[in-house]
Amino acid sequence: MKKFMHWLVYALLTILGLLVCAVLFVYFRGIPKYPYNPPPEIASLQVKADSQRITRGAKIASMQCEGCHADPKTGLLTGHIMTDLPKEFGRVASMNITHDPEFGIGKWTDGELYYFLRTSIRPDGHYNAIMGGYQLLADEDLYSIIAWLRSDAPSLKASKDEYPPNEPNFLVKLLCNTVFKPKPLPSSPITIPDSTQVLAYGRYLACALYNCYQCHSADFKTMNTEIPEKSEGFFGGGNPMLNLEGETVRSANITMSPTNGIGNWTFDEFYQAVVNGKKRNGGSLHYPMMPHTVLSTSEVRSIWEYLKTIPIIENKVERYVEKN
Ligand code: HEC
Ligand code: HEC
Repeated sequence: MKKFMHWLVYALLTILGLLVCAVLFVYFRGIPKYPYNPPPEIASLQVKADSQRITRGAKIASMQCEGCHADPKTGLLTGHIMTDLPKEFGRVASMNITHDPEFGIGKWTDGELYYFLRTSIRPDGHYNAIMGGYQLLADEDLYSIIAWLRSDAPSLKASKDEYPPNEPNFLVKLLCNTVFKPKPLPSSPITIPDSTQVLAYGRYLACALYNCYQCHSADFKTMNTEIPEKSEGFFGGGNPMLNLEGETVRSANITMSPTNGIGNWTFDEFYQAVVNGKKRNGGSLHYPMMPHTVLSTSEVRSIWEYLKTIPIIENKVERYVEKN
C-alpha cells in the first residue's frame, strides 16, 4: 500500500510537472511563426487594377473589411478596438490598412496581400489569427479586393494612426498552439460560379463572399471554413455574438423551418431583412446583423433559393430583446 502511495505521488508530480512545462512553453513560445513561402506565381502576382475590379472590390470591402477596420470617428481604415470580440480574447485592435508605407500596408506587394488574405501569414512570418483567412473566395474576387486596397478610396488615404501591436493573452496563445492554424492556399484556382447557376451562385454568396453562414451557424468555434456545410448547426442560428454594449445577441435560424426559421416568410420579407435590416414584424434587426444595402436583388434571390435547398434545423433561438 505504502509503495502504491509513493508511486501515486510520483505519478501526480510528474503530471503536474509536465503541465507546468506545457503552460510555460505556450506562455513563452507565444504565437508560432510560420514560413512565408508563396509559390512563384503568387510571389510575383501583379493585380491589374481596372475600374471594374475597383468597383467590385469596394462593394466586397464595404461588407467584408470596413466594419472591422474603420475608425468610427474618422472613417479611415486605421483600425479600432474590437469591443464585440469575446472578452476572453483580451484587448484586440484591428490594424491600419491605409496606404501609409510604415503603419499601413503601402509597402506590401500584391502577392503578399493575396497570401495573407488566404492564409493569415504575414510576409514576416507572423500569424494573425483573429481575422481569419478567406479560403473560399474566388481568385477574381481577391484580385478585386487587392485592386480596391490600392485605389484612391478616401477611407484608404495614408494615415499614421494605429493602435499599439496586439499583445496576445494566454488563451489566444494557447489556441494558436492548438486549434488555430494558418489555412493552406487553395489547391486549384477558385472561380466565381456563373450567376445563371442560381444555387451554386447562392452558395458562393452565402458561404464565401458574404459569409452569412459564419454568423448564422451554431458558434464561430465550431464553424468549418473549408467545408461550410460541416459547421455545427449550419444556418440554424443561435451563435452568441456581442453587440457594442457587450450584450449577447444570438443569430437567427434562417433555415426553412416554418416554426423556428424563415420557412413561411415571403421573398420580400427576406429581402427587407437582408438588404434593409428590417425585422419581419416592424422595427430593425440588431447589430451585428447589418443592412446589406449593396446587394443586388438577384444576389438576394440566389441566396434565398439556395437557403431553400439546405437541411432544415429545428433550433429555437432565444432572440435578443432590447432592454427599455
Ligand atoms: C472580424 C474582423 C475583421 C475582418 C472582417 C477583416 N479584418 Fe483584417 N484584421 C483584423 C484584425 C483584428 C487584424 C489584426 C490582428 C490579428 O488578426 O491578429 C487584421 C489584420 C489585417 C491585415 C494585416 C495588417 C498588418 O499590418 O499586419 C490586413 C492586410 C487586413 N487585416 C486586411 C483586411 C481586408 C482586406 C479585409 C476584408 C477582405 C479584412 N482585413 C477583414 C480584423 C478583421
Ligand atoms: C456579423 C454576423 C452576421 C452576418 C455576417 C449575417 N447575419 Fe443575419 N443576423 C445576424 C444576427 C445576430 C441576427 C439576429 C438579429 C436580431 O435578433 O435582431 C440576424 C438576422 C437575420 C435575419 C432575420 C431573421 C429573423 O428571424 O428575424 C435574416 C433573414 C438574416 N439575418 C439573413 C442574413 C443573410 C442572408 C446574410 C448574408 C448576406 C446574413 N444574415 C449575414 C448576424 C449576421
